[in-house]
Amino acid sequence: MSSEPLPNPHIVSLKGYVPGEQPQGGGWIKLNTNENPYPPSPRVVEAIKKHLETDGTALRLYPSPDSAPLRKTIAALHGYHADNIVVGNGSDDILNLLVRSYADLNRPIGLLDPSYSLYPVIAAIQGASVVKVPITPDFSLDINAVVNCRAPIFFLTNPNAPLGISFSAKQVEELAQAFSGILVVDEAYADFAEEDCTQLPLKYPNVVVTRTLSKSYSLAGMRVGYALCSLKVAEILHRVRDSYNVDRLAQVAAVAALEDREWVQKNIEKIKATRTRLISELTQLGWKINPSSGNFILAKPRGKTHEFSSATAESAFNFLKEHKILVRCFPHHPLTEKSLRITVGTDAEMDAFLKAARAWSEG
Ligand SMILES: Cc1ncc(COP(=O)(O)O)c(C=O)c1O
Repeated sequence: MSSEPLPNPHIVSLKGYVPGEQPQGGGWIKLNTNENPYPPSPRVVEAIKKHLETDGTALRLYPSPDSAPLRKTIAALHGYHADNIVVGNGSDDILNLLVRSYADLNRPIGLLDPSYSLYPVIAAIQGASVVKVPITPDFSLDINAVVNCRAPIFFLTNPNAPLGISFSAKQVEELAQAFSGILVVDEAYADFAEEDCTQLPLKYPNVVVTRTLSKSYSLAGMRVGYALCSLKVAEILHRVRDSYNVDRLAQVAAVAALEDREWVQKNIEKIKATRTRLISELTQLGWKINPSSGNFILAKPRGKTHEFSSATAESAFNFLKEHKILVRCFPHHPLTEKSLRITVGTDAEMDAFLKAARAWSEG
């Protein structure tokens, strides 16, 4: 009798990452995974079509292994040299490469708690443990706690997801100076904030800034992200990544999207204006909302009982879902358990959401 082949022991007990629900049929208002409600620049589809039409055999050939033309475009956008940029299949790919390169059984990763729940999963795949530095209830960054955490790599999500808050560029720079390991500043949402840290890796070789085209560029479906980093870190990440980690059409789409910065800026401004209106209307309903620097808000719903609790958040979540509105709950942390995370959608989507939120609050 043959016995069932087992994977590695740490994989047997691994809990995989659970992404937000991606419902398949239509009719949903999807406010649960922080996608952009507006389409990408029309230049993206034009560029893909042109690429396929001008060379009908293009798909037969492998893409640029190191996304060379795309790295040039990213370099121009940030005032970098292309050698200081590594492109990934989404920024998740870059985060994964960083963990694979700098953490192992004896080298933990550090992170702020709460923050992006993918980091512990990729650490667990690597067999690395996690050192959590709590975010205080007044949302301050404890620089000494990070410096003393003894992890060779630390993930700072800024703006923070799921809290929505951000730390100032000055605070991040203070941390960069004091921390001796690799400081990864995950800037997935930085285009919706007032400041960013894109220039820090030029000054501090231990800083890596990760960016994505999934949010402000409306390209979640294409899977493109990148790292801005020192030449040394870039060389390591290139060594570890898959040889063709970004497909041909994704590279073409990303170049077109990055070159139409005007389109992106217009959508960012629209989303920020809608965010202000959403916060103001929910505040009038008695909901409590964190300051937000992202394309989402974290809000504590207030219902008939006037009580903020995880049961109240769950009740609002279920009511919204019955009305085909999807938001996200984070029931496992004291700073998030009483809240819903709501992606900022179009004004029409927010009207529908606010109507349902009012009906639940007053119902
Ligand atoms: C903080 C944070 N970092 C990274 C990502 C992943 O982005 P990408 O789509 O580029 O893999 C997300 C996605 O939601 C995120 O919230």
